[in-house]
Amino acid sequence: MKRISFFLVSSVMAALTSGAAVKASFNTIPLPDMIEATVGAAPFTLGANPTVEAPAELAKDAELLRSYLPTGLKGKSSGIIELRADLKNDNPEAYQITVTPERIVINGSTTAGTFYGIQTLRKAIPATLDRSGRVEIPSGEVAAAPRFAYRGTHFDVSRHFFTVDEVKTFIDMIALHGINTLHWHLTDDQGWRIESKKYPRLTEIGSYRPNSIIGRTGPDYDNTPVSGFYTQDEAREIVKYAADRHIMVVPEVDLPGHMMAAMASYPELGCTGGPYEVWRAWGVNDGVLCPGKDVTMKFIEDILSEVAEIFPAPYFHIGGDECPKVLWAQCPDCQARIKELGLEWKDGVSPESQLQGYVTRFACDVLGRHGKRAIGWDEILECDIPRDAVIMSWRGVEGAYEGTARGHEVILTPTSHCYFDFYQTKDTANEPYAIGGLTTVEKVYGLEPCLPTMTDEQRKLVLGAQSNLWTEYIPTFSHAQYMELPRLAALSEVQWRAPEGKDFEEFKTRIPALLALYDKLGYNYAKHIADVEVKYNVDTLNRALVVDCSALPGYDIRYTLDGSRPSMKSAKYEGPVSLSDSCFIAVTAFKDGVPGHAVCDTLQPSAIAFSPIRLAEEPDAGYAFGGAQSLIDGLHGNGNYRTGRWIGFSGKNCDATITLPRRMRLNNVTFSTAVFTDDAVTGCRGVQVFSSDDGENWHLIASEEYPAVEGVHNYEVATHSVNFFPREMNYLRVVIRPEYIYPEGHPYAGCLGFLFVDEITAR
Ligand code: ACM
Ligand code: ZN
Repeated sequence: MKRISFFLVSSVMAALTSGAAVKASFNTIPLPDMIEATVGAAPFTLGANPTVEAPAELAKDAELLRSYLPTGLKGKSSGIIELRADLKNDNPEAYQITVTPERIVINGSTTAGTFYGIQTLRKAIPATLDRSGRVEIPSGEVAAAPRFAYRGTHFDVSRHFFTVDEVKTFIDMIALHGINTLHWHLTDDQGWRIESKKYPRLTEIGSYRPNSIIGRTGPDYDNTPVSGFYTQDEAREIVKYAADRHIMVVPEVDLPGHMMAAMASYPELGCTGGPYEVWRAWGVNDGVLCPGKDVTMKFIEDILSEVAEIFPAPYFHIGGDECPKVLWAQCPDCQARIKELGLEWKDGVSPESQLQGYVTRFACDVLGRHGKRAIGWDEILECDIPRDAVIMSWRGVEGAYEGTARGHEVILTPTSHCYFDFYQTKDTANEPYAIGGLTTVEKVYGLEPCLPTMTDEQRKLVLGAQSNLWTEYIPTFSHAQYMELPRLAALSEVQWRAPEGKDFEEFKTRIPALLALYDKLGYNYAKHIADVEVKYNVDTLNRALVVDCSALPGYDIRYTLDGSRPSMKSAKYEGPVSLSDSCFIAVTAFKDGVPGHAVCDTLQPSAIAFSPIRLAEEPDAGYAFGGAQSLIDGLHGNGNYRTGRWIGFSGKNCDATITLPRRMRLNNVTFSTAVFTDDAVTGCRGVQVFSSDDGENWHLIASEEYPAVEGVHNYEVATHSVNFFPREMNYLRVVIRPEYIYPEGHPYAGCLGFLFVDEITAR
């Protein structure tokens, strides 16, 4: 008896110490271009403190590699890890990883390439080890080279200030994703964040604001002062920290607009001479630098020269966005400068706009003397600018098209795909307040920087892509991480991979391992990508709503229909579920028993729900969502017209014909419209209801007119109930008429109104 139990104990011990090691996978993000396993070969076994051999030029990278390895590794490795930087490859950031049981060789075409190989190895190792403390790395070959040379992320530290340590963590985050540029937005109306020895008041005065407006437009202000700046030594420390991770820091001094903090510090830089304050509101301020004054031009020259000396990068961002010209038009100094330069209206461009061109050329010239090229927001294209200026296309992709057509190199950062201050889910009610918009991980993933309309010559001028993080509504670093992650993962794949090698569904299979690493690193990240995705389809044949759910691999989907919160004891989702009766649908994806957000919807079908329906005119392409069928799917839209429940029409009626399930006697029709006057979504002005026996000959059975919506109404639902004399019919037709054109006096006068319609019911 004793002997047997000893045997059992020792075998359990053996399982604990040398049991199945976890297996590494090179299916990382960004995905390498090539992953080839050596068939039949034993893996490399990684244990504690493996020997890392590296030449002197890779000493720092070797140190970083050691710091990236999990702390729980146990036992000896089966071989050594060797770092090299002599790979033959035209791409200076290419790498190759060769794994045998005795050796892992990470070779880069430069030390940067080796570093990306290190990042890939790091991400290949699962975030959680098993009790063996060992990792098996499959023998074989892995290789990759980034598609674009410029792989950026922008970080606004003006609107809110982030500490040196937080900026370093930001750099760690981008290094993890193979991103090589930090575009550091150091100055703006709301705060000047870089020390100047020549202009000390820039930080003495310009780095502080006592409070900030609440929301987008106030009228209230908070009680939270925002202050802070980086000394030149701290900025150099950050540059070094980034360079060790093969990241270049491109500083931005945004001019001639977005300069209120500088003008509060030195009022002589503005057209009126002030006084000015560090701006406490958001948006675009009419107060901008006065290029009519010599003192301003001297300031531009001095400050660019001083900041340029801190940052070794070959690029310097000079902003150039959102510069109103109203004060220049009235300023005697600006007008004198316009006269001196002989600026006149040219090709529809005003003399004042051309004055901005003068400032841009001047700034480019100063930077040229420091061996640097200017990057500017796409507004700088409005004037003649030096050919070597790089255009950052943010107001859509048009700037990238025009910039390359004019021979400029360009970087794509369109609001539609790259603004990480935008919401990342339609469910905005459960999100931290954001500037607006909607940029999901999938949307970011879908960016193609080389536009289909570009010629081959133009495509060669596309340097890369970048995300932007404006921080008006992002007061903490944890919140900044939440906005960046995992959208950075999608961006990195845009930056690294050719379009043929991209597939969002496949990308999703690789994301759980990265999320686990974020968890291990303590990064705060958005979890929507791990939430269950619920799609609704109408089955007209069986008169039912079909609920189709999906989640990331390794997630368990559970649902309830009784209003209770799904738990691991709830029904397991194993395939589409058909529903015909009223119920409350709640679905959640669980990872190791931990629930994500629940997707909840109320099904309330009327007697005509799930019937065949057709529209005389299609909804607008951008607002077609689930199409006509969503009008009678039993799911009723809430006040947010972008959820996909509503369908939208502009300049035309919502004219719906419904084939009833049987001959029916009806006396009422109801329908709802979304109202969001700030976005010109104003509901309807009238409705007509028709009946028919054959679907061809129609009888008007009810007609109603509604007053125009007045005043501000956002997030509202207007429900209209139309009663009529009871009537039997086989077909029902409902024609809902919008506000076609806004009348005089309305903020949208002359524009088409939007009509968003949802659930049409009848009884
Ligand atoms: C910008 O978003 N104003 C470049
Ligand atoms: Zn002026």
